Amino acid sequence: MTVTPDSARTGRHTYRGGVPEAPPARTRWLRRLLLLNLLVEVLIVVTGGLVRLTGSGLGCPTWPQCVPGSYVPTHEQEQGIHKFIEFGNRTLTGLVGIVALVLLIALYRWARDRPELIRGTWVVLAGVAAQAIVGGITVLTGLNPWIVAFHFLCSMALVGVATWLYWRHARPAGATTSLVHPLVDRAAWAVCVLAGVVLTLGTVVTGSGPHSGDAEAPARTGFDPRTISWLHADAVMLFTGLVIAVWLGARLTSRSPRPTRAWGLVLVVTLAQGLIGYVQYLTGLPEVLVLAHMLGASLLVVTIARALVLSRTAEPVPTDSPAGGSVAGD
Ligand code: HEM
Repeated sequence: MTVTPDSARTGRHTYRGGVPEAPPARTRWLRRLLLLNLLVEVLIVVTGGLVRLTGSGLGCPTWPQCVPGSYVPTHEQEQGIHKFIEFGNRTLTGLVGIVALVLLIALYRWARDRPELIRGTWVVLAGVAAQAIVGGITVLTGLNPWIVAFHFLCSMALVGVATWLYWRHARPAGATTSLVHPLVDRAAWAVCVLAGVVLTLGTVVTGSGPHSGDAEAPARTGFDPRTISWLHADAVMLFTGLVIAVWLGARLTSRSPRPTRAWGLVLVVTLAQGLIGYVQYLTGLPEVLVLAHMLGASLLVVTIARALVLSRTAEPVPTDSPAGGSVAGD
């Protein structure tokens, strides 16, 4: 196996006699850590959903202690299974923070020449610490639906950064240029903004409905759930149209098949998520579908962040290459 400084830096395989060689061990470990970092960020969204859907939001009625005088659930507590569900979610925050910390140490040791990855991991670490505090405020405000929504949206942002880290690491370092037409590039950023609007409206639907987190007294925004659901679905239609436009634009103008495939996946996840949204709305919000809808929202953020990375390249792009021409690394 040939370990070259370049292969260690970029994660790309070196070739000898036409046979691809395995990347060095530290690159493999970094990739695993980056993947773990992404997986735990998605996992905590799902467990946060379980807290909400089982009405366990106040299973630990105080913060940072679970119950006055104890950081862990006690026998005397009345909250039944809810105290363990809420405590499990709090414990997972510790795990998410430890994974981000280990990743940061690994990057400082093995990838000092990738400052963008180090900066991104600092963002994740700081975000996890901030989320622990926002989670606490959520409890202390008796599950105020706006704080719950903010807590969820911060998690989505962290999933986005963790995704960017994972896919950016797999691409060569250095300044990048877009593989698609500038207009398509701008439309892709508009997709991100509109995704933020769709996610935000989704959280308002949740805060207006029966699954806001407290089994005893579901907190409400006071909005009519039907009207706000329609508004959410309308924004989704606009979003879907824009995703189709970006996918088509990538097909027509990209210098590599990579962006087209990546935006195609965004479209597939969008359609699946829209379908789940309508089915849950029409079937009275069964918990399992609501949880699938939360997972779908996370996967959508993953696919969008991934598509943004894969729509750019750090390799030289021949400016006169025809649409569909190939760029090294495809
Ligand atoms: C790209 C497509 C979609 C995305 C990204 C999305 C995203 C979201 C998000 C982030 C939430 C809030 C989750 C939470 O606060 O825990 C939500 C809730 C909701 N969404 Fe969507 N959604 C999409 C499509 C739809 C569609 C087409 C409908 C159809 C009406 C729909 C109906 C709902 C309903 C009813 C809720 C509230 C569920 C609850 O009670 O917790 N969604 N959505």
